[in-house]
Amino acid sequence: MILVTGGAGYIGSHVCIALLDAGLDVVAVDNLSNSNRTSLQRVQSICGRSLVFRYTDIRNEDVICDLLRGYGVTAVIHLAGLKAVGDSNVRPMAYYENNVLGTMRLVSAMKRANVMTLVFSSSATVYGIPKYLPLDEKHPLGPTNPYGRTKLIIEEMLKDLCRSDDGWRISNLRYFNPVGAHESGLVGEDPLGVPSNLLPFVAQVAIGRREKLRIWGNDYDTPDGTGIRDFIHVVDLASGHLSALRQLERPGLTTVNLGTGNGSSVLDVVRAFEAASGRSVPYEFRERRAGDVAVCFADPTFAQDAMGWRSTRSLEQMCADHWRWQLQNPDGYQDSAPAKVQARSGHRGRHA
Ligand code: NAD
Ligand code: WQD
Repeated sequence: MILVTGGAGYIGSHVCIALLDAGLDVVAVDNLSNSNRTSLQRVQSICGRSLVFRYTDIRNEDVICDLLRGYGVTAVIHLAGLKAVGDSNVRPMAYYENNVLGTMRLVSAMKRANVMTLVFSSSATVYGIPKYLPLDEKHPLGPTNPYGRTKLIIEEMLKDLCRSDDGWRISNLRYFNPVGAHESGLVGEDPLGVPSNLLPFVAQVAIGRREKLRIWGNDYDTPDGTGIRDFIHVVDLASGHLSALRQLERPGLTTVNLGTGNGSSVLDVVRAFEAASGRSVPYEFRERRAGDVAVCFADPTFAQDAMGWRSTRSLEQMCADHWRWQLQNPDGYQDSAPAKVQARSGHRGRHA
């Protein structure tokens, strides 16, 4: 049995699908602060198998400990956390409390229950401003915002934990830019309010929910002047967690980039999305966004060497799958009857 924290979220729901499809049993925990339990109902219908869901916060150490013991959990995939860079500048303490304290409580519960195998969601944001490209795992670290610093602090904390006790087996996964959705169109990203990330914004423009995309900067030192990122299909990313779990016989902490190794510019994404959707995506150029770097992409070699994993899905497929999700769920999970029931009963902060 695998415990997935943040299991109802964007990446968590795809990780649950990968685990169930691989024949593993899942207990998902989530406080639904940025998600909806409908995602997990859909995960179960996609997989034709059930999972256990517990509505709780990872900071409830005793509850987590009981779940670990009660379900005979053997490993934890830890995705729960706050992730919005801009928001982290406004209310940094919420990020330290949720991400850092939350992880402290989680590993404490794990130690008490003698479950010492962990896959952690870190981020390429820990690299900060690239000193060279592609970014390999040895690149110096220097996050430039509070969110990124919480990830770096957790990474350091987990390293110390492994040094203190060689029973721990931890895989530290640094994601690049996850996009796309499950090919069924039933599960995908459901951002709160105005999306700050590129793909959800582009998708909302394509469907007519927003007038035009604002492209933050066209004067970067890149072929078309717009920023370049390593977009990775969320289904590829999810399968990386399964590969990480499988190589966790090795003690200590192993850090692995999950990216494609390919950089795509903002304009590449706009064109690919227009092709996938058959809709136009009007845009205008604006000033650079504070904190953005020109180019960022992974060296994914170590993921292949250490765990035999590599991404397989193209930018075209990422856009096609993202579009299918957007088309079938124009207002995200809010559309669905179960979500409305939850909103009325006050389970979900964001729509309640
Ligand atoms: P998400 O917000 O969709 O999922 C996170 C889930 O965790 C949500 O369902 C939320 O309700 C839950 N949660 C938050 N705090 C919790 C708590 N204290 N207790 C229980 N549940 C809690 O985000 P996502 O995109 O799926 O990201 C998952 C993880 O991956 C995060 O840790 C994020 O920092 C990391 N990550 C995401 C990206 C990205 O671009 N999406 C990139 C790199 C790393
Ligand atoms: C991509 C490109 C923008 C929106 C963020 C976090 C990072 C990680 C992934 C969690 C950039 C441009 C965007 C828009 C635009 N998350 N853009 N108009 O900034 O690479 O990474 O998400 O760990 O920590 O910082 O992703 O999708 O916001 O931007 O022009 O409306 O698209 O300037 O060049 P980013 P993004």
